Amino acid sequence: MTSLAGELSRLVGQAFAAEGLSEHFGQVQVSDRPDLAQYQCNGALAAAKAAKANPRAIAEKIAARLKAEAIFAKVEIAGPGFLNLDLRDEALNARAAVLAGRPFGATTNGKTVVIDFGGPNIAKPMAVHHLRSSIIGDCLQRLYRANGWRVISDVHLGDWGLQMGQLITEIEIERLAPVYFDPNFAGPYPDEAPVSMDDLETLYPRASAACKADPARLEAARRATVDLQAGRPGYRALWRHFVKVTEAGLTREFASLGVKFDLWNGESSVDALIPPMLEDLKTRGLAELSEGALVVPVARDDDKKPLPPLILVKSEGGVLYGTTDLATVIERVRDYDPDLILYVVDHRQHGHFEQVFRAAAKANLSGKAQLEHVGYGTMNGLDGKPFKTRAGGAMKLYDLIAMARAEAEKRLAEQGIGADFSAEERSEIARKVGIAAVKFADLSNHRTTDYIFDLERFSKFEGKTGPYLQYAAVRIQSMLRKAREQGFEAGLPQVHSPEERKLILQLLALGDWLAAAEEKRAPNMLCEYAFELAQNFSRFYGEHHVLSEPDPDLRAARLGLCALVLAVLTGVLGLLGIEIPERM
Ligand code: ARG
Repeated sequence: MTSLAGELSRLVGQAFAAEGLSEHFGQVQVSDRPDLAQYQCNGALAAAKAAKANPRAIAEKIAARLKAEAIFAKVEIAGPGFLNLDLRDEALNARAAVLAGRPFGATTNGKTVVIDFGGPNIAKPMAVHHLRSSIIGDCLQRLYRANGWRVISDVHLGDWGLQMGQLITEIEIERLAPVYFDPNFAGPYPDEAPVSMDDLETLYPRASAACKADPARLEAARRATVDLQAGRPGYRALWRHFVKVTEAGLTREFASLGVKFDLWNGESSVDALIPPMLEDLKTRGLAELSEGALVVPVARDDDKKPLPPLILVKSEGGVLYGTTDLATVIERVRDYDPDLILYVVDHRQHGHFEQVFRAAAKANLSGKAQLEHVGYGTMNGLDGKPFKTRAGGAMKLYDLIAMARAEAEKRLAEQGIGADFSAEERSEIARKVGIAAVKFADLSNHRTTDYIFDLERFSKFEGKTGPYLQYAAVRIQSMLRKAREQGFEAGLPQVHSPEERKLILQLLALGDWLAAAEEKRAPNMLCEYAFELAQNFSRFYGEHHVLSEPDPDLRAARLGLCALVLAVLTGVLGLLGIEIPERM
């Protein structure tokens, strides 16, 4: 990915080096005063401090060197020693031509990231935090891929905890599938699942309520969980059915959202790795017994809040969420040797991940991988509480998407969009618009802030919304289609006016934005970029003739600019998981 700020930083860095100063002072960024300059470098101030010299004097020397560079149209010193930089239009044009050839697709950076997101639980309905995790995680996997990483995404199902024992005992008590509980049964167990996804969804709340009301019932569920984990054949067979049935349902839900995973692993996938891990931690003296449980102490002296130890095995023998997460670090390091593992999980689980990461560090389990919890806030309903469907019950992704689609349909009808299209096409547009509304609204907030699910606002065609950006892209598409019909060819983008300059500068900053969004794990930066691009485009389009431009060269350059804006806008929206309809 090209980076204009990077290119300029190298150039200015060389000027610092030529003055005997460290080249890292040459860091260049987009100017925070675009009315004064396109780019700026503040390094002379820091360099002066380090060298105990006068900042302006240093800035003068750097400026003298930079003025000799053909790329700069203007090199100015402002205030105590800020360097203000403008590029020559020819330099912008040359770089825009390169960008137009290949706006996306970095060469591989040789690095691997595992992204753990989605994380729904077997039998339990998906909650809003799973929706947010899916949207944010999917955006990150698209972004990292675009930036040249090898990405392994893992849905990491919750399939190994107490809810499994609760379900198993419920099925036993209700005598729904006695064969799995018969100690004399010699197998093989039936291939057909004794329960459907819908059954599971009604059984689980019943089981969970019964366990809350009755300690003996809870104890039975605990025992069943331990027996399942220990490998009791009937329980394992039953559990495999739960997993299969749930996976089929979840695949459909995720597909409706346009989200794919490389791995459908779960907490249970590391079952075989747990006993040797426990042995190893015990032998190395890292795990110890505490009140009958096996734990890894992870507190540090400088902790502001006391951090409890990571519990690996409970006193009655079951393993926990932290145990599987720790073993999963071992598994991922073994299988992929990643540079980075991102856990896109609700920020309320921060303590859990802190425990797991510290235990992994203590036991030296993470290889070269940096482990990072990418937390996020809550999506609330209009009542300010975590969002639920109107019925107040379980949220299903496809119900939510159906809602978003219905809202989109209403809006499209209001705007008179697609009135003459086939019903099929209209419905496909509504699907894309509905998903764009939900995803963009989610991603455009900084991920750590809570926000209110307000479908009406998200679905507007004006303002900072997904549908607005889709519409902006569709309009450019249709203009380019008309150009082709009229036999107009697009050329290379060129600066001829302030609006074109601004647009091209923004296009050339694409690589820098993608890099920054990656570094901060901040999808909202992509939303910001796309929105600004659409606005800059609309200003340009308001001021300039394109199809009606009589000068063929100018028209070709403008068409080229439009095509590049479209490619970049489509690409960035693609990273957000938003598709552009053919027409609207
Ligand atoms: N199943 C968990 C939940 O519902 C999320 C799993 C996140 N991933 C992980 N490796 N812990 O909260």
